[in-house]
Amino acid sequence: MDKDVKILAIESSCDETSAAVVVNGREVLSNIIASQIDIHTKFGGVVPEVASRKHIEAISVVVKEALEVAKIDFEDIDAVAVTYGPGLVGALLVGLQYAKGLAYALKKPLIGVNHIEGHISANFIEHKDLKPPFVCLVVSGGHTFVVYMKDFGDFEVLGETRDDAAGEAFDKVARSIGLGYPGGPKIDKISKIGNEDAIKFPRANFHEECLDFSFSGVKSAVLNYLNNKAMKEEIIVAEDVAASFQKAVVGVLVDNAIKACKIKKVDKIAIAGGVASNSSLRKTMIEEGNKNGIEVLFPAPILCTDNAAMIGSAGYFEYKKGRVASIKLNAIPNLKLGER
Ligand code: KG4
Ligand code: ZN
Repeated sequence: MDKDVKILAIESSCDETSAAVVVNGREVLSNIIASQIDIHTKFGGVVPEVASRKHIEAISVVVKEALEVAKIDFEDIDAVAVTYGPGLVGALLVGLQYAKGLAYALKKPLIGVNHIEGHISANFIEHKDLKPPFVCLVVSGGHTFVVYMKDFGDFEVLGETRDDAAGEAFDKVARSIGLGYPGGPKIDKISKIGNEDAIKFPRANFHEECLDFSFSGVKSAVLNYLNNKAMKEEIIVAEDVAASFQKAVVGVLVDNAIKACKIKKVDKIAIAGGVASNSSLRKTMIEEGNKNGIEVLFPAPILCTDNAAMIGSAGYFEYKKGRVASIKLNAIPNLKLGER
């Protein structure tokens, strides 16, 4: 039997400083997340300069805690995995420099991980027997992709957003109806008591085979609706606006996800990223999956938002493929999926 591989993983691409210890890409010994949400809420969104400073303050504390909770020492780890893109450059650099310093001092391999591949890998932690091929819908604050995962670390992008990411649209619409940051969970919550058929917001549909997304149209439609109502001094029912907007976004996400499974002839789809916590997306995806004979998989909510355990999982599969990074590894803010 192969020796267990213990990866110390670090994530700092946006507003969460996280460190985790993951065994063989599937078993999480610790997953420490220091969130900066409270600070950024005051500004209505993530302030990059503030994020970098907060990462610097938190990084050594979360790494120390990750080892303590995992009950291991630095010497026990086999490799250091770190997110090197995509994300905010200043934020990425904090985790990356720390990881490089550690790998160098400990004489352990350094593994560079793509943040989006990390989100997809959260499914390998949640579903212990999950193996490619499958389709994955990645929906986060910065990205929206539908991908075909052919093998571990081998992706084909089938569709992506042409403008806003799904989570970004949730956050912007939430701000316009006065819900604050981060808006996704708040829209999700108030939509439960809203009428999703109250307002017909547009859905961007490209030609039949195209699996791309666009959310700027629905976002503008919500803003126009709110402006019109305000001008006419009519009452705005925030719950109905939220539920109708959510229905439009979820409808497009689910349609493209099911289409992708049919095109690739697979009967399994994994959902990933912060928006994968959305209750309407979960419910609609499962219903449509059942109708089409497709198994729908989600990670637990704690593995959907940014965390280092998912980086440790993706890092393990990179490590197994011998993809070790050089100490010169740099942050790539716009790193593409599958690019190395
Ligand atoms: O994956 P993530 O933590 O960070 C990025 O890599 O972007 O995703 C954060 C995004 C935010 O836009 C947030 O509003 C959204 O995920 N989100 C949700 C929900 N929970 C988080 N969107 C809709 N419904 C939710 N329940
Ligand atoms: Zn993310």
